[in-house]
Amino acid sequence: MLYSKKVMEHFKNPQNHGKIEDADGIGKVGNPTCGDVMYIYIKVKDKIIEDVKFETFGCVAAIATSSMGTELIKGKTVDEALSLTNKAVAEALEGLPPAKMHCSLLVEQGVKSAIEDYLKKNAF
Ligand code: FES
Repeated sequence: MLYSKKVMEHFKNPQNHGKIEDADGIGKVGNPTCGDVMYIYIKVKDKIIEDVKFETFGCVAAIATSSMGTELIKGKTVDEALSLTNKAVAEALEGLPPAKMHCSLLVEQGVKSAIEDYLKKNAF
């Protein structure tokens, strides 16, 4: 299977890897078919995603998309981050093999789930 140079860069040197202990929102998503799991942690201030980290127990594409997806939402508003799509993440990575497109769904769902958690905790 051929991955783009960008995918391999992010897989070998993932950005935002780790955990935020006092996160404002945590998302946990999994792919039932392969069993891969992803956690997304966000720190939000004045509706801006100030910090974001991920822990992904999964394949090359899942790790590279976690890295790129978190890069794309860092510094963005909560609303902007909610509109992140797996397609945008795959494009930023110069494409994914078709059989691996589903892996990029995890980061889209993980970001949404972390933001939903944040919104639930901060509902007035
Ligand atoms: Fe499980 Fe890629 S094979 S997310």
